[in-house]
Amino acid sequence: MFKLEFVKYKNILDIDYLEIQGDKITCIVGESGSGKTTLLRLLNKLISPDKGEIYFMERTLKEWDTIELRRRITMLPQNPIMFNGNIRDNLLIGLKLSEKPLVKDEKLKEILELVNLNKVLDEPTQNLSGGEKQRLAIGRILLLDCDVYLLDEPTSALDEGTEVKVMNSVVEYIKSKNKTLIVVTHSKRIASSFGEKVVEIFDGKVKV
Ligand SMILES: Nc1ncnc2c1ncn2[C@@H]1O[C@H](COP(=O)(O)OP(=O)(O)O)[C@@H](O)[C@H]1O
Ligand SMILES: [Mg+2]
Repeated sequence: MFKLEFVKYKNILDIDYLEIQGDKITCIVGESGSGKTTLLRLLNKLISPDKGEIYFMERTLKEWDTIELRRRITMLPQNPIMFNGNIRDNLLIGLKLSEKPLVKDEKLKEILELVNLNKVLDEPTQNLSGGEKQRLAIGRILLLDCDVYLLDEPTSALDEGTEVKVMNSVVEYIKSKNKTLIVVTHSKRIASSFGEKVVEIFDGKVKV
């Protein structure tokens, strides 16, 4: 799905070779500051390497039209933005921004259940806890129906039990739809339970 060759980004990342398969759940682990977020941003073409090539489906990211690429690949940032309004508004905004057809409340309720968020759609988001906002943000991007999901520490604000529940259902959802999942996590436990492939980044390099 992705291939990196001799990729350098500032003095932050230096990756000679990395291949990420589309049909395997990939977990990216590493210490804080090792370059995990930077790697996701490169895959999503939010930033471009100073040297080397990144391929997505056999074409370099340079060749991909950015808008077309972002329709296929979506990234959940480490601190997702919440908009004013209620849970429904916040679930639908991703679809609105990417000009995709909106969905009915039934579908939104299914997604809330999937991310283990037991709230009504009319609830204002300003009252939600950090962990609840995090789950809402996961639900929002799942609705986008992209091919590849890049999640940056999606469960960092959740307690262990909820973390496992949410990861379980996200993984199941992604697998059932034959999509690709790449998750950055600092939890080795999450990486070993869910990662079919684990990539460790150490000081900007892939640890082998
Ligand atoms: N735009 C930037 N300019 C300069 N340094 C950056 C930039 N973004 C991140 N960094 C630095 O690069 C290193 C890796 O950051 P990051 O990819 O966010 O690490 P991680 O997600 O693994 O914690 C850190 O030392 C960070 O301070
Ligand atoms: Mg990070």
